[in-house]
Amino acid sequence: MSELNLILLGPPGAGKGTQASRLTEDFGLPYIGTGDLLRQHADEGSELGKQAKSHMDNGGLVPDDLVIQMILDKIDEEGDDGFLLDGFPRTVPQADALADELEKRNRRLTAALLIDAPDETVIRRLSGRRQCSEGHLYHVEFDPPKHEGRCDQDGKPLKQRSDDRPEKVAKRLKTYHEQTEPLKDYYDERGLLRRFDGTRDKVEVHDHIRATLATLRLEERL
Ligand code: AP5
Ligand code: MG
Repeated sequence: MSELNLILLGPPGAGKGTQASRLTEDFGLPYIGTGDLLRQHADEGSELGKQAKSHMDNGGLVPDDLVIQMILDKIDEEGDDGFLLDGFPRTVPQADALADELEKRNRRLTAALLIDAPDETVIRRLSGRRQCSEGHLYHVEFDPPKHEGRCDQDGKPLKQRSDDRPEKVAKRLKTYHEQTEPLKDYYDERGLLRRFDGTRDKVEVHDHIRATLATLRLEERL
């Protein structure tokens, strides 16, 4: 088995989305981003989107059953040869559900990639983040676009996410520490956790993850 079945873990603003877009290109993996999928549903006004929106706007988590089904459907649609999950699992029940469902399909997780950064770093990152409707990411200070307010890749207007306002960020961080951080131990105990220092430059973080994944892929082939 040489497929890479990966999850990205880490606090809001640590750089999961930034690294995911590079890694999916490097390794030809489908990107399954829970936050992006939920925001799409909310924009389309689907039943799931309506239910999800109130939780997201409050900085809390969308109920497990809604998210689990949405992600399993996506894995079955696009993830036959491997996948990169960004933002799932975020609770122990979600992690258990993923493990059970992969086992039923005779598959397993390759690694949980933790991009870690302290609260003060991620608060600065989120306050300056901008993105276009296609999800291309920028930062007004650390990664500005060539033309202010326009995406370099598709020319679309750049916006601030509504949950990036300071009071929402504080709530999201609290939610992360209480509900998602226990997954560090969960995956460490299962020998799947790989840690990366998210405070480093994004190119450095990328190089480090890529090297780790190249080694993992070789090991999978042995
Ligand atoms: P989601 O969209 O997943 O948000 P998040 O986890 O809070 O993470 P972010 O997307 O804010 O941060 P990121 O780590 O991707 O950072 P980025 O690369 O953008 O989820 C949103 C909501 O959906 C949740 O709050 C919840 O309600 C719901 N939800 C999602 N999944 C769920 C689940 N499984 N269960 C239940 N509910 C769920 O980078 C941030 C900024 O920093 C950017 O501006 C970037 O340019 C900059 N940057 C990145 N790396 C660097 C670097 N190395 N140096 C300097 N700047 C950098
Ligand atoms: Mg993200």
